[in-house]
Amino acid sequence: MKRSVLVGSGSALPKNCVSNEELAKRVDTSDDWIRERTGITQRFLAGEGETTASLATAAASAALDDAGLTIADIDLIVLATATPDNTFPATATKVQHQLGGKGFPAFDVAAVCSGFLYALTTADAMLRTGMAKRAIVIGAETFSRILDWEDRTTCVLFGDGAGAFVIEAQDNAESGAGIIASRLHADGEYGDMLFVDGGPSTTGEVGKVRMKGREVFRHAVTNLSSVLSEVLEEAGCKAEDIDWIVPHQANLRILDATARKLGLSMEQVVVTVDQHANTSAASVPLAFDVAKKDGRIKKGDLVMLEAMGGGFTWGAALMRA
Ligand code: ACO
Repeated sequence: MKRSVLVGSGSALPKNCVSNEELAKRVDTSDDWIRERTGITQRFLAGEGETTASLATAAASAALDDAGLTIADIDLIVLATATPDNTFPATATKVQHQLGGKGFPAFDVAAVCSGFLYALTTADAMLRTGMAKRAIVIGAETFSRILDWEDRTTCVLFGDGAGAFVIEAQDNAESGAGIIASRLHADGEYGDMLFVDGGPSTTGEVGKVRMKGREVFRHAVTNLSSVLSEVLEEAGCKAEDIDWIVPHQANLRILDATARKLGLSMEQVVVTVDQHANTSAASVPLAFDVAKKDGRIKKGDLVMLEAMGGGFTWGAALMRA
């Protein structure tokens, strides 16, 4: 059986780290409020010269090094972002060029915070059907550029960054490694709960993030619990088989509520929201890379990736590392 196996991961953060206290100097907020409601203590914000493409290229390059590969070994790039460098060309093509690649397909997918799950599932399907052999899958964002810094209900929640996986099609992979099952969902009825109030075809301006936080919270817990059950059923696994959950890092309380619904302890949940805040499509591969590099996620571990975001969109994927 052909499976997409993870052979390398990497991540990148902007240089500038901004603590809650520093943020409170320019926004009407406090460290206590942010910490209590979200678990966030700091975030990294892109500065001059740092863009979604530059962070994505750094993360992809680190993932190639981790895999012991070069761009010559790659024949597909799928990049998830809601903050592309330009409306077009796709940021993926810029990354391909910056890495020294040419000719093979490279494209962006837009599913906001669930973007990495959408990108990974798309690349996995292309690998399993033989359309490509090795892919770089990237989640990269500079959400700071679409935040309304006058709106304290949103601007304190997000940060910038990038994460990348290199996945490879393998037949009968050793110890059942690879992506075992995945599911994606969308429901456009809830588009006005989390959106950007601009775009090329409407206002002609980039726009800013708008959110109904309470509603998003409620839907996130319900949707994530149901997609996690679907993926477990498809894989023929039980929640107690899972070694690690690597969730989208929106809010500590969402992570806690989702883990509790599955009957898992927070010890098994990779948490980086405290350090990185919500980096949208970047958060899942960034969190995975942190937990792999610090030795928590080991080869052979059963890992559940999950995310929910604007659209609404949501999804999950179960893989053996
Ligand atoms: N600092 C200080 N006070 C604030 C801030 C702030 N940054 N933001 C809001 N407040 C105030 C409000 O004005 C309000 O004051 P009031 O009672 O005097 O009117 C009070 O705090 C409570 O505001 P709520 O919006 O009701 O606060 P809530 O408890 O719902 O927490 C939060 C807000 C953290 C956004 C929460 O709803 C949440 O976590 N939602 C999930 C949304 C999310 O994580 N989105 C990320 C993107 S989507 C995704 O990735 C899944």
